[in-house]
Amino acid sequence: MAEAVEETRFWLKDNFAPVFEETTATDLKVTGQIPQALNGRLLRNGANPQSGESMHWFLGNGMLHGVEIRGGQANWYRNRYVRTPLFLDTDADVMSSLNDMSRSAANTHVIHHAGKILALEEGHWPFEVNDELDTVGPHNFGGKLAGAMTAHPKTCPETGELISFAYGMAPPYLTYHRTNAQGEMVQVEHITVPGATMVHDFNITRNYTIFMDLPAVWNFEGLAATGLPVVWDESYGARLGVMPRNGTDADVKWYEINPCYVFHPMNAYEDGDRIIIDVCRMEDTMKPGSNSPPLLYRWEIDNVAGTVKETQLDDRSVEFPRVCDTRVGLPYRYGYTAAFAGGMPYAEGIMKYDMVNHRSDYHDLKGGQGSEPVFVKNPAGSSEDDGWVLAYVYQPEINRSEVVIVDAQHMDQDPVARIHLPVRVPAGFHGNWVPDGY
Ligand SMILES: [Fe+2]
Repeated sequence: MAEAVEETRFWLKDNFAPVFEETTATDLKVTGQIPQALNGRLLRNGANPQSGESMHWFLGNGMLHGVEIRGGQANWYRNRYVRTPLFLDTDADVMSSLNDMSRSAANTHVIHHAGKILALEEGHWPFEVNDELDTVGPHNFGGKLAGAMTAHPKTCPETGELISFAYGMAPPYLTYHRTNAQGEMVQVEHITVPGATMVHDFNITRNYTIFMDLPAVWNFEGLAATGLPVVWDESYGARLGVMPRNGTDADVKWYEINPCYVFHPMNAYEDGDRIIIDVCRMEDTMKPGSNSPPLLYRWEIDNVAGTVKETQLDDRSVEFPRVCDTRVGLPYRYGYTAAFAGGMPYAEGIMKYDMVNHRSDYHDLKGGQGSEPVFVKNPAGSSEDDGWVLAYVYQPEINRSEVVIVDAQHMDQDPVARIHLPVRVPAGFHGNWVPDGY
């Protein structure tokens, strides 16, 4: 393994290190008052290599963490590996499983759609789990999903559709999927792009899907330097592809943009002839020697003029952007992000951005190390920010984690509740609130 990778193996240290025990805890101490309106589970996924070793932060076996909350009580905490064929083959690593869609690390995200909870990773099929985090099995939409599926599908709040895509190292390099509200995959569409790139996420609006084809190019020469078969190659160019949501490859309009990398957009929406996309933008990724911070930017695509305007919105290093589920792809006012601690990918605080009035609020985690903040709307509320921000937070002094519940309209105040867990939850990737009756 290259020295550069050895030196930066942060993902095996401190609270990034894996945990090996699967815990079920039902007697959870709570400080404060859990809102009665919260009835469901806060789930989160992350890479947790069962061998204790992995070449890259993105490659460990998926482990789900969950806390069930109902009627003002915290019922349980559970953590479970996602039991995929890759997990069950204890000698294998994910690089040996690139062409077998069932051999997923299933480590990146967890969502619910059409009555199923799915653990996702972008190189393989989704894996279904039940609401106590036990693995059901791979889910390929009745055979309609031949290849992989992104870990960042979008559920349209107006139609209930699940919009997704996949990228491949061999043609087809990009494939679009549309799944209806009942869970039936109704469209699979190959999209023409110049080559194989790592496409981590994408955007939807009410009428459009917007792909991000950026110069993180698949190349096994990248393995030695970064631990992933990806190289930064600006000669590939960078472009956004705008396609009607129900359109085809022939309908895609491509717009050149400045080379950059975006793991995660905050949201996108239409404004007349323009499409607004807010993203956590980095100057590059997988570029040896570079540690470019993710910064909040806005892209404004003018579909008439054929231009993209790029504006930096903040100079703070932020990632894991989220919005209210009912505003995905629609005009929105509030976004929530992790405020990164120095160069490390965990939160020292939680940002709330008011995208209309151009201001932000900050929730200081006071030495805690937070994960992606998940906004959960108050079912009885009306305004977009009437709800709570939930996150797993590691407390280094006691080597344990907690779930914090912050009133989204009072980000500067202490959490309204903290659910104390008997173990630590390693720093990980993405998660979701799965309400009762999902
Ligand atoms: Fe992601």
